[in-house]
Amino acid sequence: MEIRTVEWADGVVRLIDQRRLPHSLAYIECRTGAEVADAIQNLSVRGAPAIGVAAAMGMVLSIWYLDTDDRAALQQQFRCDRALVEAARPTAINLRWALDRMEGVFTEAAALGREGVRHALLEEAKAIAAEDLAQCRTIGEYGARLIGGTAKVMTYCNAGALATAGWGTALGVIRSAREKGKQIHVFVPETRPVLQGARLTAWELVKEGIGATLICDGAAAHIMRQERIDCVIVGADRIARNGDVANKIGTYGLAISARRHGIPFYVAAPVSTFDLSIGSGAEIPIEERGPEEVREIAGHAIAPADMPVRNPAFDVTPAELVSAIVTERGIIEEPVGQNLPGIVAEP
Ligand code: MRU
Repeated sequence: MEIRTVEWADGVVRLIDQRRLPHSLAYIECRTGAEVADAIQNLSVRGAPAIGVAAAMGMVLSIWYLDTDDRAALQQQFRCDRALVEAARPTAINLRWALDRMEGVFTEAAALGREGVRHALLEEAKAIAAEDLAQCRTIGEYGARLIGGTAKVMTYCNAGALATAGWGTALGVIRSAREKGKQIHVFVPETRPVLQGARLTAWELVKEGIGATLICDGAAAHIMRQERIDCVIVGADRIARNGDVANKIGTYGLAISARRHGIPFYVAAPVSTFDLSIGSGAEIPIEERGPEEVREIAGHAIAPADMPVRNPAFDVTPAELVSAIVTERGIIEEPVGQNLPGIVAEP
């Protein structure tokens, strides 16, 4: 099954509206950089690598409909849209990484006028998408080596095709393991507050006929022990130089439970998710989202309307709880902070 999470279609960025899954597979079409920024902010498109691809395509839109060859005018629009897109979500480093790549290409091509810039930006955005897909496949190949012939695997949130240009990181490892004939059963915590596990990972697994069981987030530790889970594998939004990993809120708790039960805790992420400019996870900005995500489920109130709320979207798992990080350049073994430079080069 091919899932076209983000694609360029003739002057339009077409995105699966992930807010509507699993009930309907609907698409939204963006025609401006600001519309892409909105789609990223409101979670129509989410997942670190997919956000990067959408951001890159948003920067193509930024100048696509401008009717000028004036370098200053092109630059002003590009800068303005870049700021909007970058502000949409602060934690996933892939967003800034993709925007930096696009800005580099813009700077080189700016003198060529509108046509030249359009062409160069579109090629770069398409390259970012194609590279992401290829990297996910390679991550899957490496990661599958960590999974036994018959395995019970727990994942979290959605690190699948919907979170990338296709295939997925953590779910990509599961897909690749299955492709190699391994018997995998996946346990999927629902992932409150916005239920990426129940809505998105469950949708991908059911579509693909991979055996899976949905559980409440609070059931994870119990299920790890009772089902004798073989490993936990998750994605990442940003990984610091010491190997600390930011991922969906609740990941840290899973890592602690996994360690308590002697279960390996794996992270799967492309090299674009590493932020070598920061020494530890303490420097990772953690997005706080609106209270309605916690007070409501799918628009239905589940708490008093004026109940105070904290809604951090991500947490940081200390490197010491991470058994390995699977990248497209190979596997970073434990201790991941110490072994990371060998695979992820210094800036
Ligand atoms: O808030 P989200 O849905 O964007 O959070 C997504 C995650 O935390 C994913 O695990 C992470 O981005 C990796 S996706 C390959």
